[in-house]
Amino acid sequence: MSQQKTENVVWHNQAVTAEQREEHKGHKACVLWYTGLSGSGKSTIANAVDKRLFELGVHTYLLDGDNVRHGLNGDLTFSDKDRVENIRRIGEVSKLFVESGLLISTAFISPFQSDRDMARDLLNQGQFIEVFVDTPIEVCEQRDPKGLYKKARSGEIKNFTGIDSTYEAPVNAEIHLQTVEQTIEQSVDQVVGYLQGEGIIK
Ligand code: PPS
Repeated sequence: MSQQKTENVVWHNQAVTAEQREEHKGHKACVLWYTGLSGSGKSTIANAVDKRLFELGVHTYLLDGDNVRHGLNGDLTFSDKDRVENIRRIGEVSKLFVESGLLISTAFISPFQSDRDMARDLLNQGQFIEVFVDTPIEVCEQRDPKGLYKKARSGEIKNFTGIDSTYEAPVNAEIHLQTVEQTIEQSVDQVVGYLQGEGIIK
């Protein structure tokens, strides 16, 4: 886990360790980092997994792109620079949640591999689980649940991911969800199965 050094600020170790918090909760702490195009199904799948985990008694929390951009990251645009800052902050917030012993999910486009790697590097081995919500852009555009692709095509929205802003698909995601070929329930089973297989939850 990398720890940034800031001048004249001294790091305090906590009396309760991260391991004690995990033990207390009865499962390991980690982040399920969903990435995918707008309209790929990130939020839908992350919510469905979160609900299943909650019902299994896992201590969870979900950070969602649209919601976080209303608050914490309300000052950020969709320029490349601001997307990097968006993900940097989410990475740091995720680290705090993981240290608190939670199994958290984040649902952000997080279009750049280097930013996802930066978020991964903040955590210990095995604590960052990249989940690629793999939905082809043609399908996302056809679904267009918020009408954003239509606006992007007409030029009303600039820097739209997949149209005039880059999306770098993960090459080595821990979990690869091919949403066109499977139902939401099957995706939930795949994610929960992975967590059980890795011994993160029972
Ligand atoms: S990013 O790239 O990770 O910083 O994006 P994120 O914080 O996940 O926010 C994506 C949601 O913002 C809406 N939106 C846009 N997305 C992409 N490009 C542009 N230009 C844009 N403008 C607004 C959109 O509703 C995204 O939500 P999802 O759930 O991904 O469709």
